[in-house]
Amino acid sequence: MKKLTTTIRKGLHGQLHVPGDKSISHRSIIFGAISSGATEVSNFLPSDDCITTIQAFRDMGVVIERSSDHVRVHGAPNGLKPPRHPLNMGNSGTTTRLLLGLLSGQHFTTELFGDASLSRRPMRRVTEPLSQAGARFKVGEKGTLPITVFGQQNLKTLNYRLPVASAQVKSALILAALQTHGESTIIEKLQTRDHTERMLKAFGGEIYQDGRTIQVMGKPQLIGQNVTVPGDLSSAAFFLTAAALLPGSEVTLKNVGLNPTRTGFLDVLNRMGASVDVLNEKEQVEPSGDLRVRHSHLKAIHLSQEDIPSVIDELPLVALLATQAKGTTLITGAEELRVKETDRIAVVAEELTKLGARIEELPDGLIIHGQTALNPQMSDRADTHGDHRIGMMLAVAALLCDRSLYLENEAAINISYPDFFDDLKQLLCEEGTEER
Ligand code: S3P
Repeated sequence: MKKLTTTIRKGLHGQLHVPGDKSISHRSIIFGAISSGATEVSNFLPSDDCITTIQAFRDMGVVIERSSDHVRVHGAPNGLKPPRHPLNMGNSGTTTRLLLGLLSGQHFTTELFGDASLSRRPMRRVTEPLSQAGARFKVGEKGTLPITVFGQQNLKTLNYRLPVASAQVKSALILAALQTHGESTIIEKLQTRDHTERMLKAFGGEIYQDGRTIQVMGKPQLIGQNVTVPGDLSSAAFFLTAAALLPGSEVTLKNVGLNPTRTGFLDVLNRMGASVDVLNEKEQVEPSGDLRVRHSHLKAIHLSQEDIPSVIDELPLVALLATQAKGTTLITGAEELRVKETDRIAVVAEELTKLGARIEELPDGLIIHGQTALNPQMSDRADTHGDHRIGMMLAVAALLCDRSLYLENEAAINISYPDFFDDLKQLLCEEGTEER
C-alpha cells in the first residue's frame, strides 16, 4: 500500500521527459524481430508490458539486448523458433493480440496465457477474422486466454470490415496479412492509432490508407531500422491533468508523441478551456513536440463515439477533470472501456465516488457532475484494482484532497510507468512548490 501525496498548495512546476510510448515500444520489438539486420531502439519503455513482449520474442529464439531504455533486436526474417513452453502474456493486451496475428501464420503451434485480468479480456475479435483467413486456434468457451495458435503457412489474404474500433485488432490483422501472398484490405470502424502502419512503412513494407480503408501487401522484405520512441502522451496526460487542475501550476513535458490519432486528450483539454501550448514540433515517422500546460478554470464537455478512439486510454483522466469543471460532462460511445485492464467505467465511477465525486455510470460511458470537492469519504483507501491507469489517475486525484489517502495494489503502475511516483515528486518539488 502506498501513501499518496495530498494537500498540494502551489501546484506542479518544471520540466519532465516522460518515458517512451508503450504502443510504439511494443511494435519496435515486433518489427525488429521479423526484419533482416539489427533494429536499434532508443527511449524504449522498460515497463512490465513491454518487457513481456521482449521475453516472448526471446522465447521464440530472437536475440534481444537491452540496457535500460536502449534495445537492440537482431532480426530473424527467416522465421521465429517454436517456443519450448507456453508464452506468458502477463497483463499485456497489446502483446497478446498482435502476437495472435503474427503467430497465426508461423510454422509451429504456440500456447498463450496471461494474468487474471488479461484472461478476462475478449480475444474472439482477433481470432474470428483471422479464422476467416484460414488461421486455426483453440479458444476457451468464453473467447479468452489461454489460447493455442496452430500456425498455418497458407493463410489467405484478408478482406475484413472491423466491427470494433481497435488498433490492436487492426494490427493483428496487418501482421497476419504480411504472411500472405497478395493484397489484404482492412476497413476500420473509426480511425484508431496508426503506429503499426507507420512503422511497417518505415521498415520497408507496402501499406496504403484511404480514409478508413487500409491496403497491405503480403511478403514484404522488411529491413531493421533505428527507432527513436517519443514520450508517451498517455503518460504525459497524468501531469497535464494535475497541472490543469492545481492552481499555480506550470509544467513542460518534453518530446511527447503527437501522432494525430492519439491527441484526442489535447483536444479535450482545449475544449474544457485548459491552457496547453505545443512547442518545438518535430515531424518524423512519429511526430512529437513539447507540451506546456498551466492551471485553468475548466468547463464541462460532451464526448461521443467519434471522439473516443483518440482519447481511449485517457478517459479516466477526463472523468477526473470533469469532477472539477463547471457543468456536467457526458461521455458516451465508450463501451470499449468496459473491456480494458479493468471495467474502467465501473472502476472510475466506484473509485471517484469514494472520494465524493458525483458520477453516474451509463452502459457506454459516464455522467460526471462538476465543481465537486474531492476527499476520502468512508475510507482512506483507494484501489488500482490492478489497473495501472486507474492507479495513476487516483494519485492525481489525491493531489486535490487534503485528507490522507492510501493506494492499494500500487504495483500495477509498473505495467506502463515504473518511475511514475519519482517523476510526480520531481514536479511537486520544483522551486516554488511546497508539499505539506
Ligand atoms: C493499443 C490500442 C488500444 C489501447 C491500448 C494500446 C495499441 O487498445 O487502449 O492501451 O497499442 O494498439 P484497443 O485496440 O483495444 O482499443
